[in-house]
Amino acid sequence: MTAEPILALERVGKSFGSVRALDDVSIELHPGRALALVGESGSGKTTCARILMLQHKPSEGRVLFKGEDVAKLHGTAETLAYRRAVQMVFQDPFGSLNPTHTIFHHIARPLALHAGLADRRALRGRVMELLAAVELDPESTAPKYPHQLSGGQRQRVNIARTLAVGAEVVLADEPTSMLDVSIRLGVLNLLERMKRERGMAFLYITHDIATARYVAEEIAVMYAGRIVEWGDTGAVVDAPQHPYTQLLLSAVPDPERPFHGAASQLDTGLVGRARDAARLTGGIRQVAGNHFVRAA
Ligand SMILES: Nc1ncnc2c1ncn2[C@@H]1O[C@H](COP(=O)(O)OP(=O)(O)OP(=O)(O)O)[C@@H](O)[C@H]1O
Ligand SMILES: [Mg+2]
Repeated sequence: MTAEPILALERVGKSFGSVRALDDVSIELHPGRALALVGESGSGKTTCARILMLQHKPSEGRVLFKGEDVAKLHGTAETLAYRRAVQMVFQDPFGSLNPTHTIFHHIARPLALHAGLADRRALRGRVMELLAAVELDPESTAPKYPHQLSGGQRQRVNIARTLAVGAEVVLADEPTSMLDVSIRLGVLNLLERMKRERGMAFLYITHDIATARYVAEEIAVMYAGRIVEWGDTGAVVDAPQHPYTQLLLSAVPDPERPFHGAASQLDTGLVGRARDAARLTGGIRQVAGNHFVRAA
């Protein structure tokens, strides 16, 4: 990528005691673009997001926001500005909603806090606008409580909250994996539209390389705390170089089907070879313009 990233991990490592969760991880997020972080359970995807959310400190390396090291954010104002700009959408659409508050309250509160909207009519107008922006019916949705909505609708409320806060970067950790297959696409399309229309930068975390391909311009494939292959989505998906990426792709015969279900049917020799290759710490090879692989 040529333009400066809005948010980046630069050679980040993370150890939890003796567990090496991340090793030499570099990623870049750009306005109006999505990067998919793909890999199996325990590969380190959520740890990347938590480091970007300032919930964990990297053991090595840096987090750069608009080119500045976030470890050097000055005072509460700068830290708050960062926390506003970088928002997370979680897997469980219920988890981050308070069951005792209406949907109106969930959207109004960040608007009042962050956008300083004090006037009641202006606030109400803006809440309704944001509900419409995430394709929920404003009048009927605003007075409801979270349990009165479907999982997909709740995830849309979570997305509306990131807009209310004024997020520039959204870290979406398996945002559709707990939703029915039939409504996943709608939520993915909404994220795609926010990216396009509002220029938001997305980190899209998933097990599922099929949906990654659908939403992200770039893909980074993680295995055991390391990115083993990365680049333009088309390049990586059409000509996967690393045995682990090849394994992930061979496990997805059907775009509607998640990786885990299919993997169990694979020949175990291929699985073993892919895992061995992913552990090696070879050099990095450039396959094409924006397509890189760690030597296996
Ligand atoms: N707070 C923590 N303390 C100790 N170990 C942790 C902590 N958080 C993560 N780990 C370990 O770091 C590794 C990476 O975990 P992480 O949650 O980032 O994986 P993941 O790719 O998000 O997996 P999943 O797909 O299951 O969500 C795992 O071995 C995990 O057990
Ligand atoms: Mg995770």
